[in-house]
Amino acid sequence: MFAKEVYVRRRRTLLAKMREAGQSGLILFVGNAEAPAQFKDNCYKWRQDSSWLYYWGLDEPLMAAVMSIDSGEEILFADDVEIDDIIWMGPQPGVESKAASVGVLRHRPYGEIAAWMEERVKGRPVHFLPPSRYYNTLKLQQLLPGGKPSEALIKAVISMRLVKEDIEIEAIDAACALGYEMHSVARDAIEIGIVEQEIVGKMESVALAKGWGVSFPTIVTQHGETLHNHLHDKRVEPGKLMLIDAGLESNEHYASDFTRTYPTSGKFTAKQREIYQIVYDCNELAFSLTRPGITYREVHLATARKMLEGLQALGLVQGDLDEMVAAGIGGLFQPHGLGHNMGLDVHDMEDLGENLVGYDPDQTRAKQLGLGSLRMARRLVAGHVITDEPGIYFIPALIEKFKKEGLGYDFVNYAKLEGYYDFGGIRIEDDVLVTADGARRLGPCRLPASPDEVEAVLAR
Ligand code: GLY
Ligand code: MN
Repeated sequence: MFAKEVYVRRRRTLLAKMREAGQSGLILFVGNAEAPAQFKDNCYKWRQDSSWLYYWGLDEPLMAAVMSIDSGEEILFADDVEIDDIIWMGPQPGVESKAASVGVLRHRPYGEIAAWMEERVKGRPVHFLPPSRYYNTLKLQQLLPGGKPSEALIKAVISMRLVKEDIEIEAIDAACALGYEMHSVARDAIEIGIVEQEIVGKMESVALAKGWGVSFPTIVTQHGETLHNHLHDKRVEPGKLMLIDAGLESNEHYASDFTRTYPTSGKFTAKQREIYQIVYDCNELAFSLTRPGITYREVHLATARKMLEGLQALGLVQGDLDEMVAAGIGGLFQPHGLGHNMGLDVHDMEDLGENLVGYDPDQTRAKQLGLGSLRMARRLVAGHVITDEPGIYFIPALIEKFKKEGLGYDFVNYAKLEGYYDFGGIRIEDDVLVTADGARRLGPCRLPASPDEVEAVLAR
């Protein structure tokens, strides 16, 4: 948790933004509740709602809070523990001191929120964020039947969380330091004959020993062409590519998200190196272009062009590069976007609406494969934290679909592509802070990334 002043300042800024936007009434925040896995006392691992953490800091279940845009009044709704809770959970600080720790002066029992709302709303607008959990969807329906999330509030929250404060950048740097350690352990664990799951176990032990846990379900696979492959059941075979996409959430709940791809035998084959070099060049290009003023959509498109240029040199595509980019041929090889926002969530704030988070008001999300999956397209400003994660994947079913539908016939060398059906996929991902005059990769140092660096670290 940060100092109380941080939360007080953030809430004041939020109120000011709502007033500037001409809004009135109340803002209601609802924190998460425990989510039972099988029965009510055996729950999934506790995780607080991220916007709640940002404004109210308290990392405990069953809390809500209301702010009046008009008067600035704030009330925390939370329960003091009773003797039964103390028997099972031990002594706990009272709500009074929890509220004080985030600068809130008034509090009421959690169970009183419905009655309080009924008495106080009286036709005034109540602004709330889209809930990310079903429990809160139901709770909000009970409290405000027929109510809809407030676009004004969503926009105000996004405008604040999107541009990271210095204390958040420090926290993300720390999460990236642990993410670096996690990835180093995973890389060192690659060994012919072991099951991928063993690598996952070693790597995730770092996340648990030093942080809250993983920031999303780990990807450790020799089938990197399956973008979110969560199966870890294969034995490590020689001559394959092992894609490791994993991140950690620190105890402060800030994320890291790195991807590296390793030749399981320690050295790339000539064919693997050629494709790896293209992905590496795209990652480098994206980083070199990242600076305030450029849109991440432009950066995505520049890397798509670079990728097609590299694939053209290998004879896998042919034709005018700009025409290929416009025709969306890049999506055949990289059916995802260049990156996303990162912060308290690994895909930061996507629960608030991907387009509101990742697109400026004057931008429209494309429908094309690849570009359409770009989650962060905005014009960059200092303080954005984004991922730079180009990849090349040979997905036989997708290539066959393109071919069958007659797509890209002018550009794609389908015959040659058949020689890549058992290739797999490569992705290289770094976490990047946009600075006043450019960009900085987050974390104390960069994981080995160039083909030579990768081979050198595997030879150690
Ligand atoms: N690294 C996983 C993702 O970005 O979806
Ligand atoms: Mn990512």
